[in-house]
Amino acid sequence: MKCDQQFVPGKIILCGEYAVVFGYPGIAMPSSWGITVTIQEEGARAIESTGHRFDQPWLDYTSEILNQIERKSGRSVKGKIIIDNQLPLGRGLGSSTALIIALCRAVLGLNCRETALEIESHFNPYHSGLDFAVIWEGKPVYYQKGKKMVSIELPDDLLKDTFLVDTGKPFELTKDLVTRVKEREKQLKKPLEIIGGCADRLLEGEDLLTLFKEHHRAQKKLGVVPPYVDEFIKEIEQAGGAAKVVGAGGRDGGGGMLLAVNSPEEVFIGCDYWLI
Ligand code: MEV
Repeated sequence: MKCDQQFVPGKIILCGEYAVVFGYPGIAMPSSWGITVTIQEEGARAIESTGHRFDQPWLDYTSEILNQIERKSGRSVKGKIIIDNQLPLGRGLGSSTALIIALCRAVLGLNCRETALEIESHFNPYHSGLDFAVIWEGKPVYYQKGKKMVSIELPDDLLKDTFLVDTGKPFELTKDLVTRVKEREKQLKKPLEIIGGCADRLLEGEDLLTLFKEHHRAQKKLGVVPPYVDEFIKEIEQAGGAAKVVGAGGRDGGGGMLLAVNSPEEVFIGCDYWLI
C-alpha cells in the first residue's frame, strides 16, 4: 500500500494584489496553516476531508483536479484521498492553489511543478503566478511575472502584532474579479501603479502602517473591497492601525482575510481573528 503525505502551506500576500497580473512586483509569504494530503492506494477513489471540512463544491473541485492530474499524467488516481485542511477556504489565503499543489505532489511526487502550474492555469486562466510561486516554494518571495522569482528574507519583527481577520467569504470567484479588473486596466492604471510600487517600498524599509493605508485605498479604487469591509478598515485606522485585504477580495459579499497591523485587539471582538 502506498501512503503519501504532503503538507502544503497557503499564502499571505503582503502587497501587490492585481498589480502582479499586469507585470508589477508583489511580495507574499507562506502561511503556517496549510493542506496535507494522504493517499492510501486501495480500492475505488474516495475523498475524505478533515480539519476545515470540504463542502460539496470543494469536493467537486478536488475531483476535477484529480481528473486533470489523470488526464495530464496518464495515471489513474484511485484509493482513499484524505485531505487534512487547516486553511480557511475561499478567504484569499491560497486554498485553491494549495490544494492543486498538494494533490499533484501526493499523486505525482515532488517533481510535478509543470503539471501543477498547468492545472492552476486551467482553473484560473489569468493568474499572475504569485500565489503559485509562494505556495510552491514555501518561502517568502518577491515576484514579478515573466522574471525569475526571488526568494527573500523578511525582517523577523515585520509582522509582530499583526492579525489576520476574517471578514467573510467573497461572493465572487477570483478569476471573475481578475477578469473585471483586466477589462478596466486603462482606467485603473493609477491604483495599479500604487499597488505595484509597494513591493520595493516595503523592501526599502518603509513602515507597514503607511504602506497598508495607501495599498488599501488603491485596492478600494479597483472595486475589490466590499463597503462594510472598508468601514471596518476605517475603524482599524481610527484605532491607530492599518489593514488591507489579502488576496482577490470581493465586491458584495465578504472580503476574505484582512491583514491588520498595529491595531488594538479590541477592534476585532466579535470576529474570527488570529495573530500571525
Ligand atoms: C489572488 O490571490 C491575487 C491576485 O493578484 C490574482 C493573481 O495574482 O493571480 C488578485
